[in-house]
Order: sequence, then structure tokens, then C-alpha cells
Amino acid sequence: KVPVSVFENSKTASVHVAHRIAEIIRKKQAEKTFAVLGLATGVTPIAVYAELVRLHREERLSFKNVITFNLDEYYPMQSSSAQSYVTFMNENLFNHIDIPKGNIHIPNGTIAMSGIPSFCLEYEKKIESLGGLDIQILGIGRTGHIGFNEPGSAPNSGTRLVTLDDLTRRDAAHDFGGKAFVPTKAITMGIGTIFKAREIILMAWSRKKATVIKKAVEGDISGEVPATYLQLSNNVEFILDEAAAAEL
Ligand code: GLP
Repeated sequence: KVPVSVFENSKTASVHVAHRIAEIIRKKQAEKTFAVLGLATGVTPIAVYAELVRLHREERLSFKNVITFNLDEYYPMQSSSAQSYVTFMNENLFNHIDIPKGNIHIPNGTIAMSGIPSFCLEYEKKIESLGGLDIQILGIGRTGHIGFNEPGSAPNSGTRLVTLDDLTRRDAAHDFGGKAFVPTKAITMGIGTIFKAREIILMAWSRKKATVIKKAVEGDISGEVPATYLQLSNNVEFILDEAAAAEL
């Protein structure tokens, strides 16, 4: 069974996760080496990033030794677009901390289709050459996706181009001003990529996630709900608020 921690609300849970990330960063600083973080987008991690920004401003947490890899990006997607994960990360985290720009990696939604396989291979290689991800934080989609690994994703999948599930596109419709404007594809780290992280934290808040959380934690392990693969990991923790844990 996967370890599950339930917090009173998403704020206290997010602060807990941010403090775990800060602990890793500080430990690596003491060791004079880099912290390699796997980051996520969506509503779920916003308060985690806000707490990291607060720690930077008020408690002098430096990100100079931090290297980041984001899970995913829509495809195609211009970086400057309001809906890009580049914009999301800049607005919620990177613009407010002292991370060197060259340390930031986000799947490139602007490359030509023919360049995607080599881009994805490079992404994997870069993570590996840095010694792997120290921690990967995750949200969860209502299809059970982690990153954009939709139902049908293989447990050993790597970074690749995927087709988004209809439910995922409906859930994103609000951000894009209608489902028709949501890209049909994305580049995402694979289940296998995520699995290699030394620590994995999946976060979920609100009643909307309760059903998929029940499936992810208690359901049979299956590609139909990709998050169930996390049951096979020895270093995963689910961090939930009470509403997301309601069906457990
Ligand atoms: C998005 C992202 C996922 C995220 C999920 C949940 O589409 N690609 O990485 O975990 O869907 O989003 P939210 O946190 O907004 O509920």
C-alpha cells in the first residue's frame, strides 16, 4: 500500500511539501552540489511554489544550486502563450527566485514534430547525466494521469509525445477559452522517467479528486489509471487534503 498523509487543508499540506523541497535544497547546498527537482504544473502545486518563494524572500533560501525539469508541456505551444507551462512556471516560481535561467528545463512545445524523438531522448539523458531527480512532485488528472501519461501509458514509458484524453481537454477548456482551443497533444516525461526519481510526492486537493484518488490508492494496478503504477514504488507518498481523501 502507498503511504498516504492527510492534512487538514491544502495550505498546510502545500507548506509541508515546500519544506521538504527546501530541506533537499539546503542539504545539497551543504554538500556543495546540485538539487535536481522534477516540477509539475496545474492548480495543485501553486501554493507549494508560493511557499518556496516566501522561503526565498523571507528565509534566504537560495535556488542557485537548483536544476529543474518540468513534467510536461502542451504541443504545439509557444512559450510566450498565456497557457504555456513556461509562462505558468515563470509566473508562479521562476520569476521570483534566484535560479539561473540555464538550470530550467521544460519540454519544448515549439519544436517541429520531426525533432521530438531526439528532443525527448536528450531530456532523459540530461536528467540521467545529473544523477537523476532528487524529488518529483506530481498532481493527478481526473483520468488518473500523472504528467500527461494518460490511460494506456506503459509503466516503462519515457519522455514522449502523447495524445491528450478528451476528459483532460475538457478540464483544460476553461484555461483556453473552450475545448476546441486546447491542444490535442503534449510532450510528457514517462511513467518510467517519474519512477526513477529518488522521491515522489503526489498531491491532490478537493472533492473533485476524491474518486480518482480512491482508484489510484486502492484500485488494481493498471494502465487504465496510470497513477496506480505508483503503488509499485517504494519511495512515493500521497499528500492529500481531507476532501481528496474522502473516499479512502
Ligand atoms: C494537468 C497537468 C498535470 C496535472 C493535472 C492536474 O493537465 N499536465 O501535471 O497534475 O493536469 O491539474 P490540476 O492540478 O490543475 O488539477
